[in-house]
Amino acid sequence: MIEFCGISLEHRIVNGSGTFDAIAARRAFGDAIYEQFPFAAFVSKTVTLAPREGNPPPRLWELPGGLINSIGLPNKGLEGYLLEDLPQLAELSVPLIVNVMGSTREDVARLVGAFAERDEVAAIELNVSCPNVKTGLIMGADPSELAALLDHVRPHAAKPLIVKLTPNCAAPADVAAAAEEHGADAVSLINTLRGMAMDPHRPGEPWLGGGTGGVSGPAVRAIALSQVREVRERVSLPIVGMGGVQSGHHATDLRRVGADLVAVGTESFRDPLAARRIADEASSLEEAFPANAARGVGVVRL
Ligand SMILES: Cc1cc2nc3c(=O)[nH]c(=O)nc-3n(C[C@H](O)[C@H](O)[C@H](O)COP(=O)(O)O)c2cc1C
Repeated sequence: MIEFCGISLEHRIVNGSGTFDAIAARRAFGDAIYEQFPFAAFVSKTVTLAPREGNPPPRLWELPGGLINSIGLPNKGLEGYLLEDLPQLAELSVPLIVNVMGSTREDVARLVGAFAERDEVAAIELNVSCPNVKTGLIMGADPSELAALLDHVRPHAAKPLIVKLTPNCAAPADVAAAAEEHGADAVSLINTLRGMAMDPHRPGEPWLGGGTGGVSGPAVRAIALSQVREVRERVSLPIVGMGGVQSGHHATDLRRVGADLVAVGTESFRDPLAARRIADEASSLEEAFPANAARGVGVVRL
């Protein structure tokens, strides 16, 4: 067992928010998937206050090295989630981390406050990739905007708060430092990188219904490695590292640059049970090279 923000986990592999639907997986694979869950904790897709339809189709474009998605965070909203999804997810055999997003500090505080009261929820992840409608600033791209958000939200939750950093900003490490100074318990990174694809049949038009989307998968692995390393050099908070992880080697690489946990995202679309293989491969590697896998040890200084 390992410990993350006071939560006991069986191993270090979790899922990236929005990339594994535990409820749909149970429908497809039966109860066995809940009993032998591939992830050490389940991170929900983003929940917003009001229900959202998501973006118009098409919502996915396959790249040679991954995906661009423009899903647009469809979800049932807070009330729908509490009523319909939470009771089902409470039956999971692993801790539940709920990911939330709001477009004002007050909205985020309401979401955090609602989940902080629920025993079924072990921790809350803040998706801060959204612009604050009042300031126009992307909440997670600007250190002072994030600091103000955390000052507002922190008093609403005694539970661990994980800030999910966006890679679409000048200095993610500055944002991570603001998160640490203003009460976050952990940071997670990277979220998707903004990208677009052109429609092969309509010259000059974007393929995705949302115009642009988020790039994920092997294409972003090198960026994830460098950003996790940069953040580790600035903060001592626990880090959930993710971006293009497909194997135990990739997970161990993220561990060696400073991640405490590793999330698997896009790879689960190819193989929903990939996380179990990755966890086994990573723990064999960590057993073989324990010193290298420890946080901050073995970071190559160039
Ligand atoms: C289809 C899809 C949906 C996603 N939905 C969310 C989401 O709802 N909330 C969020 O914080 N991140 C979301 N992400 C980002 C992932 O959690 C993860 O940060 C990113 O994909 C990088 O990891 P990967 O390369 O292993 O996929 C989504 C990614 C994909 C591909």
